[in-house]
Amino acid sequence: MTDKTKDQIEEEFPDDFYPYDKEDVRQFYKQITNKIQEAYKIPELIPIAFPNFSEPIDEIVIAGMGGSVIAGIVIKNYFELVNPNLRIIIGNDYNLPRLISKNALVICVSYSGNTEETLSMFKDAQRRKLRVMAITSGAKLAEIASNYRVPLVKIPGKIHPRQALPYLYFTTIRVLEKLKFIEDHSQLINSLIKVLGQKNFESLGIELAKKLYKKKIIIYSTKNLKGVAYRWKTQFNENSKVPAHLHYFPEICHNELCQYMEDMSEYHVIILKTDKEPRRMLKRIEITKKLISKACEVTELDIKGSNDFTKFYTAILIGDLASYYLALRYRRNPSDDSIIGTLKKELGPWTS
Ligand code: PA5
Repeated sequence: MTDKTKDQIEEEFPDDFYPYDKEDVRQFYKQITNKIQEAYKIPELIPIAFPNFSEPIDEIVIAGMGGSVIAGIVIKNYFELVNPNLRIIIGNDYNLPRLISKNALVICVSYSGNTEETLSMFKDAQRRKLRVMAITSGAKLAEIASNYRVPLVKIPGKIHPRQALPYLYFTTIRVLEKLKFIEDHSQLINSLIKVLGQKNFESLGIELAKKLYKKKIIIYSTKNLKGVAYRWKTQFNENSKVPAHLHYFPEICHNELCQYMEDMSEYHVIILKTDKEPRRMLKRIEITKKLISKACEVTELDIKGSNDFTKFYTAILIGDLASYYLALRYRRNPSDDSIIGTLKKELGPWTS
């Protein structure tokens, strides 16, 4: 490939690059609508009840790490937008956040079931006598959930946690529906599935990856897409193996903006916003974009859709695909996250 001109390489991208996708993640993306439908049905026959608790659940804590807790982060972000009265908290440490309602439900999520911080948060929830349940593909989390006789939702295994997002996201949505913590989302899911079948998100991902190739990535989003932007950052880190800096409007306008007084041409800035931003915010973004465009390239993505649920998931998908195609452009295996495994191995077994 080294003898070929840049244009020839362009022509062959992405077809000649799929062999770098050693675990055929692309197939999974191609089946995304089936995976969503499958995931949404998983909790159907699983009893999710807490007979030792009489008070209604007033808060949900989604506890996990990395590719597992990201579903919770995006769910929290989505409900902050559409129903700010719901209390959803994220736990991503060895202990749960200190201030949790005594009527909270702690949902421990670990795709592998072996993540020590998540197992530790499970134990913390037990210590604090909170309602707890687990979502996992098996291993130790499934084991302790069974031992403590708490609800256990098992999801299909054998893929990477970040790839398993549909299983984590739509399964959690269904769990929250079954608990009557949120309303039924089946219509919204149907409309999402329709959009996913109609629009070519893959080409958006390919296009974006082309712009980001050999650039340092900076992501700016509004509060409306905070969780989604975080998913983008982590997907560029894990799939493409590149750094990605993340910050938010309006805060960047008060500090980070100054860096664009110098040449920043090695960077590419992505601005994520919805079609729901207030007028003042839109004006702020427009001026910021104009100013930073003098120092580096900027891509602004307006996440549109007939409803917020669809907007959120399609925004995630565009980021997932962009990070996937960026990995291929660098001739990297998007699934390879062996350094995380090395760290876990060197840490050795966890004993509480
Ligand atoms: O994407 C990944 O592989 C990681 O971010 C993992 O999700 C993280 O290390 C936690 O593992 P698990 O999701 O199995 O609990």
